[in-house]
Amino acid sequence: SVLIVDFGSQVTQLIARRVREAGVYSEIAPFTNAAEAFERMKPVGIILSGSPASVLDEDGPRIPDVILESGLPILGICYGQQSLTHQLGGEVTLGDSGEFGRAFIEIQDECALFDGLWKVGEKHQVWMSHGDKVTQLADGFRPVASSPGAPFAVIANDEKRIYAMQFHPEVVHTPDGGKLLKNFVRHVCGLSGDWTMAEFRKAKIDEIREQVGDGRVICGLSGGVDSAVAAVLIHEAIGDQLTCVFVDHGLMRMGEAEQVVSLFRGAYQIPLVHVDASTLFLKGLEGVTDPEKKRKFIGKTFIDVFEDEAKKIGGAEFLAQGTLYPDVIESVSFTGGPSVTIKSHHNVGGLPERMDMKLVEPLRELFKDEVRELGRELGLPEIFVGRHPFPGPGLAIRIPGEVSREKADILRKADAIYLEEIRSAGLYDAIWQAFAVLLPVKTVGVMGDGRTYDNVCALRAVTSTDGMTADIYPFDAAFLSRVATRIINEVKGINRVVYDYTSKPPGTIEWE
Ligand code: XMP
Repeated sequence: SVLIVDFGSQVTQLIARRVREAGVYSEIAPFTNAAEAFERMKPVGIILSGSPASVLDEDGPRIPDVILESGLPILGICYGQQSLTHQLGGEVTLGDSGEFGRAFIEIQDECALFDGLWKVGEKHQVWMSHGDKVTQLADGFRPVASSPGAPFAVIANDEKRIYAMQFHPEVVHTPDGGKLLKNFVRHVCGLSGDWTMAEFRKAKIDEIREQVGDGRVICGLSGGVDSAVAAVLIHEAIGDQLTCVFVDHGLMRMGEAEQVVSLFRGAYQIPLVHVDASTLFLKGLEGVTDPEKKRKFIGKTFIDVFEDEAKKIGGAEFLAQGTLYPDVIESVSFTGGPSVTIKSHHNVGGLPERMDMKLVEPLRELFKDEVRELGRELGLPEIFVGRHPFPGPGLAIRIPGEVSREKADILRKADAIYLEEIRSAGLYDAIWQAFAVLLPVKTVGVMGDGRTYDNVCALRAVTSTDGMTADIYPFDAAFLSRVATRIINEVKGINRVVYDYTSKPPGTIEWE
């Protein structure tokens, strides 16, 4: 495996991704506990990330000695290059201009990183983002590529197998960056590139068995991909020592609760407690119109119900969660000096602390699309694995104003028609999220010979890669009018349909 030492760059996670795309397992550790991670992982190679800090700063982050003296291959990126140079006796100078954005480097000499990729004399686009720069190389290094702003754009010490670059190979704006990283992990580190999801599945199963022993595990299912994949994997490891609890708040999409139950009890034969708590949730939501109050109430009630069920089951010391890598990655923050913070999963906030249980989180090294791949590997049906994200509070935040069972039923029908049309038009996978919203606004309409006075339904569809930013999906007018007509004709309670044309920012994806 490869250890990635994080010095606080915004894009360190992308290094991990690119390395895995090369079929090599990698983990990120913040520089503050990189020495510890090094001992635990026994990696075959090291990658040092970028950083907003300066090596010229007295207390700028440093490479731990165990790593520097390990004799293993090292790749330094941006700050990683500067820290290698600085700590190995070269010179780094405070930048007065710096280089930010697209730059072109010229290849001056052969280098293991360029094998089968770049030739001497060629020019290639890379992405730079640096103020300081290396001005004198440490002993044993030679320059192999340069740019107008960085004479030592890529440097190499072949004997020690230490390589470094001033630019960022992990971002898409360095078109060949992934291949440079692949050359490092495959050619320089000599790793075979056979890391696959099948491999991950086997390793995780052993790990779960070792962690849990003959203890009991409870897993909360949300109906989403992450918790389902976690549960199926854990069940494969420990069988009926796992009990799943599905707290059904009555605010799921059409048919979704039934799907979860039949998948787990039927296809997988995993013990499942299905708690129909819809009355509790819907009663508690009566009179609540403020979006934050809805979210807080649902979050708190979810924990209460889950805790009650866990007590009934009794004897479980482990709580399983489908926490993903972006949720748990330790990020280095430079506000007020280097410090380490851990992002918490916003869906399950407070649950582990309150229940005083040990956590089993088999997906904590994976990105979302890797979880989907693992789900396919485990045989989960495509309709489950490829499903659009769905918020924890469910339809409650897609019904602005007061929520009721009747409104939830109306919305579910409209939403199902919309999704059915999207699927049959073959557009489902091109869209990040698509859903209907039931507005607390009534308008006048005419159907047959009669006057109607019913609610407005808004349709939303966005494209996105991570939910942080989003753009509207540009359906053609014929598609939208087909959906509108079907909803108005088939769903009693809706007599007008509108399309939401707001990107994020300035809007959010959900309406509340
Ligand atoms: P917004 O509305 O903030 O949503 O643009 C961004 C993404 O997050 C999802 N979302 C949630 N997911 N629990 C979740 O698990 C929540 O409370 C929650 N709120 C929003 C939203 O569906 C979108 O994918």
